[in-house]
Amino acid sequence: MNIIFIGPPGVGKGTQSLLISKTIKIPIISSSKILKENINTLSTMQNVSKEINDGKLINDNIVTKLIFSQIEKKFCKPGFILDGFPRTIIQAKELKKFKKIDIIFYLFAKKNVLIDRLIGRRIHVPSGRVFNVNSFAIGEKQLDPLTKEPLSIRKDDSKKIVKKRLEIYNSLTKPLIEFYRTESIRGTCKLYEINASKTIEHVKTELLHHLNLNS
Ligand code: AP5
Ligand code: MG
Repeated sequence: MNIIFIGPPGVGKGTQSLLISKTIKIPIISSSKILKENINTLSTMQNVSKEINDGKLINDNIVTKLIFSQIEKKFCKPGFILDGFPRTIIQAKELKKFKKIDIIFYLFAKKNVLIDRLIGRRIHVPSGRVFNVNSFAIGEKQLDPLTKEPLSIRKDDSKKIVKKRLEIYNSLTKPLIEFYRTESIRGTCKLYEINASKTIEHVKTELLHHLNLNS
């Protein structure tokens, strides 16, 4: 099964794709993770690191090639979950030509919810574990619960850059919802629109329900 998570910054795409991946045992392809892993090779073409920290989108061609090269690998044979791709109409059209997608989960939440989540996000860089200042698990000192190491803040999670990312999302990524609504009506895939302002557990249960699984 091939699944896409689409939605604004901070809506919970990374959080939910991880939970779903663990349950249905299908790998995640995270576009930002792949970009960061390839930063040294890519930076000869575009200053990828700076663009990401500034909240700008990376060139369609670069991202598409990277993602497709992952999809072609053996580990994606049972299916895959895309987190952060496609993000423009160009990327979606290329993906349509390349692979059949079964399910699109469009997660949405109000702007103030998204801003609060992003400003409060904390990362354990070595493991990639993601928390929030509101997470009971990290305590007042904001340490990784497993290693007790300090947590970091993503450079693009400052209030100024978050606002810019939301603007870019609205102009370049949001039109994908209409694209996939049309595809869904045609029967080429199924689009589910999920209110992601509820708790992490609640959202997960709803996603599993659409996958015909109980949590
Ligand atoms: P990317 O990392 O994909 O950033 P994003 O889309 O802005 O999304 P985020 O990762 O910030 O949010 P999320 O929805 O994953 O939320 P999360 O689960 O972490 O991309 C970064 C950059 O890479 C882009 O700006 C661009 O430069 C480049 N890039 C990537 N893909 C590209 C592409 N296809 N084309 C071009 N450029 C590309 O949750 C956020 C916080 O909220 C966490 O603290 C979490 O604990 C908390 N939380 C989550 N769900 C809930 C909930 N239900 N209730 C309460 N708290 C919650
Ligand atoms: Mg993410």
